Formats: sequence, C-alpha cells, structure tokens
Amino acid sequence: MTTPVNVTVTGAAGQIGYALLFRIASGQLLGADTPVKLRLLEIPQGVKAAEGTAMELEDCAFPLLAGIDIFDDPKAGFEGANVALLVGARPRTKGMERGDLLEANGGIFGPQGEAINAGAADDIRVLVVGNPANTNALIAQQHAPDVPAERFTAMTRLDHNRALSQLAAKTGAAVSDIADLTIWGNHSATQYPDVFHATVAGKAATELVDQSWLESDFIPTVAKRGAAIIEARGASSAASAANAAIDHVHDWVNGTADGSWTSAAIVSDGSYGVPEGLISSFPVRAKDGKWEIVQGLEVNDFSRAKIDASVAELVEERDAVKGLGLI
Ligand code: NAI
Repeated sequence: MTTPVNVTVTGAAGQIGYALLFRIASGQLLGADTPVKLRLLEIPQGVKAAEGTAMELEDCAFPLLAGIDIFDDPKAGFEGANVALLVGARPRTKGMERGDLLEANGGIFGPQGEAINAGAADDIRVLVVGNPANTNALIAQQHAPDVPAERFTAMTRLDHNRALSQLAAKTGAAVSDIADLTIWGNHSATQYPDVFHATVAGKAATELVDQSWLESDFIPTVAKRGAAIIEARGASSAASAANAAIDHVHDWVNGTADGSWTSAAIVSDGSYGVPEGLISSFPVRAKDGKWEIVQGLEVNDFSRAKIDASVAELVEERDAVKGLGLI
C-alpha cells in the first residue's frame, strides 16, 4: 500500500465536517488509489462530537482510511499534514461588528498558520473554508513564512458551482456543457460571477442570456445563495460546501480537465490589477499540483467595475486585520 496522505480537517465536529469527512475517507478527495489518515482538529468542547464522528467513520470500514486521530491543539493537529482543510471558524453573532469578527478569527487562523509553519509536511496544501475565508487564509499565510505563499487558498468553488448550476438551468443545458465561467474577488456578497467568457455547449453564454438577467437575476442569486439556503433549510450550506471543498482539493492535486478552467481564491501575483499578495478568486487551472491564473482574458467595463468592487473589499479586510495587528 502506498504511504497514506495526512489530511487535517478543522471544525471536524461541525456540519460541514460531517458532510466532508466521509467523502475524504472514501477516496473522493485524493483519488481511489490514495489511502488517507485523518487528523481531526476541534476546540475542546467539540472533541466528544468529533469522537462520535470518528466512530461512524470506523463503522464505514473504508478501505482507504488508514487511521483517525483527534486533537484540540493546533500544533499537534497539523503535524505532518499534507492537506489541511480549515473549516472551523468563529461565526458572526448578533451585534458583532466586522472588526470583532476579524479579530476573533485572527485568534484562530494566526495560531493555525504558525502550527502549519512549524510542523506540516513540505508539500502542505491549505484550503480555507471558514469565513471570512479569503482574509482568514491571508492571516494563516502571513503566519507561515516558511511555507510557499501559493499553498494557501480559500474556497470560492461553491460559488462557482452555484453559478454553473444557475446558468445551466437558465439555458436548459447540462452543467457539463458549460465551460469557462469565473468567480472573481471575495467569497462574500461582493463576489462577481462572470459569464462573459463562458460557453454553453460551445456557444457563447452571452448569446443565450441578456444583460438584464445577468444583473437582476444571475449575479444576485449566486451571491445571495447562501442566505437563501439558510432561509429554506434553517441551517447554512453544508453538503454543498463540503462538495466544493472536495472539488477544489481534487482539482488542485489531480489537475483540472484539459482546456477548461474553474475558480479558486489564490494569492494574487498582480494579474488583472488585483494587488499582489491578496487572496482573491480568479479563473484558474491546476497543473502538476499547482494553480495557475488563466491569463489574457479581456475584461469589459462592466466586469472591471464588479471585480474592482470586490477586490476593494478584500483590501479593506486586509487593512483592517493589519490595523488590528493580526498580520
Ligand atoms: P459549524 O458551526 O457547524 O461547525 C464549526 C465547527 O468548527 C464547530 O464544531 C466548532 O467547534 C469548530 N471550531 C471552531 N473554532 C475552531 C478552532 N479554533 N479549531 C478547530 N475547530 C474549531 O459550522 P459549519 O456549517 O461547518 O461551517 C464552518 C465554516 O464554513 C463557517 O465559517 C461558515 O461560514 C463557512 N462556510 C464557508 C463556505 C464557503 O463557500 N467558503 C460555505 C459554507 C460555509
């Protein structure tokens, strides 16, 4: 048997954790030939529930699951990690200001970044799911100076998948007929789902949908889908978020399908006017275990304004965490 890959999942006892761990253990994250060792990281109050989930994982008798360990200490939890899914975060509670939210999460993602820096494997790949995901990823990355910056990413794949599904429904196409759609910017209500390069069964999407649908239906529906799920389900997206995390890491490790691209929040190299160092969503392809930003796309005035607005929010969040001394 090949050496198992160590996968650390934080927030393992939460609802996304519950939807995610079984899929990782069944081989959907890394492929059917790759055994995994799960390292579940929780806060002390979450350990008992994580133990319950671990019992269920054992009861699945997954052939690829080579072991499960549970931790409440980040240093131990990230020791030897090859893949880290940072799901646990401090949610915004009633009356909480944005500064308080950023500060509370800085207290989580700073120490986790340090622990990754100290003990993770050389090939560590980090996906931050916990919100505010882009800025949490930036905080962790800034606390891990010895890890290449591009190993820290944040999740906009759920937004990407939501956009694919909305466009497919509108055009009567199959999701698999759609290519080259992009989520730009922050994983927040300012995100910009861009169909101007997308094709539907080889045809330009812009020939099939009009600007008014884009502006008054598609963009707000994708951006506010999380709130609509909470309204309908009485709880936030969990299975679809777990699914997107699987898609993100699977593509990162195994490569995106030839020719097509997807969306991920990765460290900006200055492409498309996004300030270098911000963790912002781009059109990306994965090859040889690395994300690459799709270059050379024409950005029209409408898209430019939308991208700039979302990136401005990321700059504000970065400046706020800097001001709080979190990075
Ligand atoms: P949840 O509240 O069900 O679970 C969170 C878990 O994280 C809890 O078990 C908690 O004990 C744990 N936790 C908190 N602080 C921790 C720490 N310092 N270390 C380890 N574990 C810790 O939340 P849920 O629904 O699983 O969501 C998790 C996060 O994912 C939230 O921040 C949510 O906003 C975010 N999210 C992000 C999405 C995206 O597209 N990027 C989509 C959906 C959710």
